Amino acid sequence: METVSIEKMTYGIDSLSHIDGKVVFVPYAAPGDKAEIEIVEEKTDYLRAELKKILEESPDRRESPCPNFPECGGCHWLHLYPEAQRREKEDILNFILKPLNPAQVYPMEPLPITHYRNKMELKIAFDGDKVILGNYKYRSHDVVQLKGCIVQCKDNLAMLEKLEEFANISENRPLLEKTETIMVRTLPPQQHCVFYLKEAPTEDELKTLHAFFDENESLSRLETQSNLGNHQTLLREKPLFNFMKKNWRISTGSFFQNNIEGAEAILHTLLSIYHSLPHKGKFIDLYCGCGTQTFLLENLFDEVFGVECNQASFQDAIAFQKTRSNSKIKFICRKAETIFNSPITKGVIAALHLNPPRTGLSQRVLKGLTGIKPKVITYLSCNPTTFRRDAKYIRSLGYKLDRIYSFDLFPGTFHMETLSLFIRG
Ligand SMILES: C[S@@+](CC[C@H](N)C(=O)[O-])C[C@H]1O[C@@H](n2cnc3c(N)ncnc32)[C@H](O)[C@@H]1O
Repeated sequence: METVSIEKMTYGIDSLSHIDGKVVFVPYAAPGDKAEIEIVEEKTDYLRAELKKILEESPDRRESPCPNFPECGGCHWLHLYPEAQRREKEDILNFILKPLNPAQVYPMEPLPITHYRNKMELKIAFDGDKVILGNYKYRSHDVVQLKGCIVQCKDNLAMLEKLEEFANISENRPLLEKTETIMVRTLPPQQHCVFYLKEAPTEDELKTLHAFFDENESLSRLETQSNLGNHQTLLREKPLFNFMKKNWRISTGSFFQNNIEGAEAILHTLLSIYHSLPHKGKFIDLYCGCGTQTFLLENLFDEVFGVECNQASFQDAIAFQKTRSNSKIKFICRKAETIFNSPITKGVIAALHLNPPRTGLSQRVLKGLTGIKPKVITYLSCNPTTFRRDAKYIRSLGYKLDRIYSFDLFPGTFHMETLSLFIRG
């Protein structure tokens, strides 16, 4: 057993301390804790340990407001007060981004800390007769039941209760045994539910799901899918999801930010960035999803492209465009990697907006950037480590990192969202 003082959080579940100059990672400790830890893994340049006893509690530490924490892997930092979580995230961000020499880093924007998640992906496990719906424990495939989750929105939690009841009807057991995941997403007043199966459902199972849909008025859509395709889609007429005062169709397979208020905060900041810039010419929104950002900015530019490789998101963008008069955006359903040396990137590009998945930009996209030289680049990222890698490259092309905004989009977790502006020359 060793006694350590915890120094700070890392980008993950671990806190960090040192023993004889060597880094030690300790999950679920708080900066300022004095604690007894047990080393569980020794590597050449770091140690991993388990927290055994807190000798002196950090002022950052609180009783977790969620009964599932830390077993359920959904949240990582619920043992810290929200202000401390944000401070640690800002410190991590400043540390990660320091080599990029940003001219201005804005304080992280706080967002609601409870019931903010609109999407729930339930894993399934069996304990005797009982069917458990929940999350995977962090770094494991053990399913932990979601009881009293504080980050899922209340409509998702209400649906979880119905699904648990449904899953625990003994006749439904075979269906649950062939279910990989159940996804629920509530973008009010729309609520979608998808059963992803490991094999095709029987006719009787489809009838059972139909009955479940009929009984649950909150659902606007229920889909049953497997590797073989879509087996059943059930629909209930409801108004579309209203976001930023407009009505959007967001299909089950489409991307939408998990946090609606967070998405709004980002869009307002993005708009304020572009309002402060000269912007005539061509605008490309790469990884545009359903086009929420493309539509927001389209009136500022003469020519606008939205590029997205996911068919569902692309179709939703087109569906939204049909509700607008005079929209000039050309949506293109293809991989970002393939737009370079095509008519999309010909001529002067005033601005490029990037919002890739967590993995960041691929080598091909980075290489493609070399040839197109937009005057400004905005980059919305949900992973500061891949962002740093990409930003280093963008800077090497002659851009200065003018400013970084950050958003506490996923309180309770170590995740964060950043929005950055690069200016050429
Ligand atoms: C983080 S989401 C952003 C979507 C959109 N900007 C928004 O905020 O709603 C990333 C999007 O990139 C798309 N995507 C992933 N890899 C891609 C690729 N290689 N080329 C084009 N789109 C891709 C995904 O389908 C997803 O819609």
